[in-house]
Amino acid sequence: MNLSPHSSAPPRFDLLQEEFAACPYPVYQNLREEHSVHYDELTHLWLVSRYEDVRRVLLDPESFRNDNTLDAVTRLRMPSLRALARADFALPPALFNNSEESHTGLRALSLRLLSSARVRSALPDIERIVSEELDCLEAELARAGQADISRTLARSVPIRVLLHVLGIDGAPGVDTLYDWTAASIELFWGRPDPAKQPALADEAADFYRWLTDTVQRDDVPEGSVLAALRRHRLPDGTPLATEQAASVLYTMLVAGHATTGQFVCSAFLRALQDEGTWQQLADEPGLIPAWSEEVLRRDAPLTAWRRVASRPVTLGGVDLPEGAELLLLLTSTGSDPEVFTEPEKLCPARDNVRGHLTFGIGLHRCPGAELARAEVQTVLRQAVRRLPDLRWAGPPRPPYLTSLAFRAPSQVTVAREGRGS
Ligand code: HEM
Repeated sequence: MNLSPHSSAPPRFDLLQEEFAACPYPVYQNLREEHSVHYDELTHLWLVSRYEDVRRVLLDPESFRNDNTLDAVTRLRMPSLRALARADFALPPALFNNSEESHTGLRALSLRLLSSARVRSALPDIERIVSEELDCLEAELARAGQADISRTLARSVPIRVLLHVLGIDGAPGVDTLYDWTAASIELFWGRPDPAKQPALADEAADFYRWLTDTVQRDDVPEGSVLAALRRHRLPDGTPLATEQAASVLYTMLVAGHATTGQFVCSAFLRALQDEGTWQQLADEPGLIPAWSEEVLRRDAPLTAWRRVASRPVTLGGVDLPEGAELLLLLTSTGSDPEVFTEPEKLCPARDNVRGHLTFGIGLHRCPGAELARAEVQTVLRQAVRRLPDLRWAGPPRPPYLTSLAFRAPSQVTVAREGRGS
């Protein structure tokens, strides 16, 4: 990485390198200060780094469409394309890749399924799932001396809760769903090694086959996402085609558990690495909602998201042509000192603690925000109470997931005081 905070030369960095993912803050600072709308030669995307510019883009869906959000970042090779084609893999406009009229009704469907009332009524089950998964974590800590949160709590809780809230029964196990999603994330938002691409494409294809089978099931539980998809009518009065229903379900599953698991990972990392924080949260659990909001601001799980200009437009003083593809650096906006003073500090008491853009804003704002918050707050509340002696047992700088869109430590090793290495 080569950057000089006050030079006018654009910084050199690679968004898809682990080194960048682990600590993107100096690059973001440089971009915000000197190149706030910057063309990235490696990805051919215009990087938008300031809070106000990102907010403006998100609030103007006419000028900035979301047609490109699910395009593969890395060109897929023929064997991968063939594997996807064999499964008839297609993700027609559904939710966050939909700038068409059909978005309105599908968004209403997602808001109903993830409403505050549904989240509230799911709270006892969220408590139960978290408690069961903490039993497993405790058992693993006792057996092995240490455990990796990214492979335990952060993986199982979001998947189990999401399937419960969406009313999907008979799904394959947690590990299969996790692997399918992880493969999709690497294939479409990463830079997979060409040799690895076909295996990832096979996993993504299996995921898609399961999605299309699931939306066509005969036995659809009342109140479930499947029943809602079956009843849904498009603006022209027609029902959803199989691939449209599969696309909605794909969006809800990928958006709904990967991000929340990444939130859990970043929260544990900060709580255990920042001196005294775990203890403070154990002593004052009332701090957890605002503190975890600060984790969201500083370490956004969905670190960046795309848009495409539908007309020539000037943004941050830069003229962009029609068709310009933008990458909105959500994590950078959470560290913009114009909006958040001393952004590097997690301050639960800051006035605008919910003012971050981590869940987006406007027409596509995340409908799952309350569910994600409820899950992570429940995990933290139970964990600090049951494991007050938990400590960080990984390297000071853990490895990070490398992806254009998703960001979190990929290993979160913990142990109990006096035990583990
Ligand atoms: C910490 C966890 C989460 C983060 C950081 C997050 C972030 C986001 C962001 C930034 C967007 C807006 C994308 C845009 O403007 O194009 C979004 C949209 C969306 N999220 Fe989340 N999300 C999280 C959890 C969830 C959960 C638990 C669900 C549950 C299914 C979910 C479902 C969705 C859906 C369906 C959309 C598309 C909405 C639309 O286009 O109208 N998300 N999310």
